Amino acid sequence: MTNIPLRNGGPQARIAVIPGDGIGKEVIPVAVKCIQAATAKHRRPIEFVDFDWGADKYLRENVTLPAGAVEMLRDHFDAILFGALGDPRVPSNQHAADILLGLRFKLDLFVNARPTELLHTRYTPLRDVTLDDIRLMVFRENTEGLYVGVGGFYKKDTPDEIAVQEDVNSRKGVERIIRHAFEYARAHNLKRVCMSDKSNAMTYAGNLWQRVFQSVRADYPAIDSRHLFIDTLAMELVREPRQFDVIVTNNLFGDIISDLAAQLAGGLGLAPSGNIHPGRTSLFEPVHGSAPNIAGKGIANPFGAVLTSGLMMEFLGWNDEAHALKNAVKSALNDNCTTPDLGGSHTTAQVSDYLVNHLAKHM
Ligand code: NAD
Ligand code: IPM
Ligand code: MN
Repeated sequence: MTNIPLRNGGPQARIAVIPGDGIGKEVIPVAVKCIQAATAKHRRPIEFVDFDWGADKYLRENVTLPAGAVEMLRDHFDAILFGALGDPRVPSNQHAADILLGLRFKLDLFVNARPTELLHTRYTPLRDVTLDDIRLMVFRENTEGLYVGVGGFYKKDTPDEIAVQEDVNSRKGVERIIRHAFEYARAHNLKRVCMSDKSNAMTYAGNLWQRVFQSVRADYPAIDSRHLFIDTLAMELVREPRQFDVIVTNNLFGDIISDLAAQLAGGLGLAPSGNIHPGRTSLFEPVHGSAPNIAGKGIANPFGAVLTSGLMMEFLGWNDEAHALKNAVKSALNDNCTTPDLGGSHTTAQVSDYLVNHLAKHM
């Protein structure tokens, strides 16, 4: 992410840690240990401050995102390391909406960067692909679309009830994410950008995305840019993922397509993400959720959280540390030191020990 102005760029960092619910509480401590091991060599002072926001606090105190939290994070932290939110005891998911979507919107983290990279061919469900075939970045618009919560019920709880959920797309919002995708491609010497929408059926939003895409792409003649409808993109990603370097799309389509892309490279357990506003306090989280089906069993895969920490190191401008974190994960995959979701028989704690030892040896 070398094109992103650094929030920090300096020798030290303050990180807010929000493990959240379920396996968030299991994988985030592993990520913190790995960051500590990776930053020890250059003696980078890094301070972690824990926040217990999540379902337990919500059920206990009826507090989701505490008053003043956004300003505090914005003014006093360089980045946020976030686990996952979601708890069967909170079927409304209200706390996740307030905390996770609240932080994305209120910190204006308009870039949701979700890279997919195949780190070992054993983990792709596709036949005959090489590591180079699956290396792409999905940029998901992260502050608008169907996620804004505009809408309502009419005649609720009657047989005639109606639910409306509005898809909000601003010119400014569409332009800044599309431009970010092109800037990223240029900075990383990537030749191909694909914008995806559903402009054949959702004609108002789609028309805006199309017009903005046409105007922004003209500023990047050296980049091969194309458009695919989102249904076709889903199919093409499975058929021939090597076609793609950078994909840019809206909030909901980006949510869905990034899970699909993640599975091409081994699944949710390996997928990292950054919720970024260049130059401002940004939030880093694994793509997966709280996985209530395995929470508390000690078998959650921590690789997604560790690779996420690598993205956070990159954001801070600490590239050696970012590389070291990714290499530690690659080495664990090569050595078959994995949790059951990847076919291994190791626990989260055993994988954690492997990663920390590897980092201690190789930094
Ligand atoms: P999920 O990602 O929690 O789980 C999907 C499947 O993948 C499950 O079988 C789970 O066991 C497996 N899985 C996910 N991460 C794993 C890991 N690190 N190691 C091993 N296996 C892993 O998605 P879901 O089941 O649809 O959602 C569960 C809850 O999480 C819901 O409340 C949902 O809203 C929430 N959620 C939160 C986030 C977030 O906080 N960013 C993201 C997605 C889902
Ligand atoms: C994600 C999740 C969230 C989203 C949910 C938990 C609201 O699926 O981060 O991908 O849809 O953005
Ligand atoms: Mn998702």
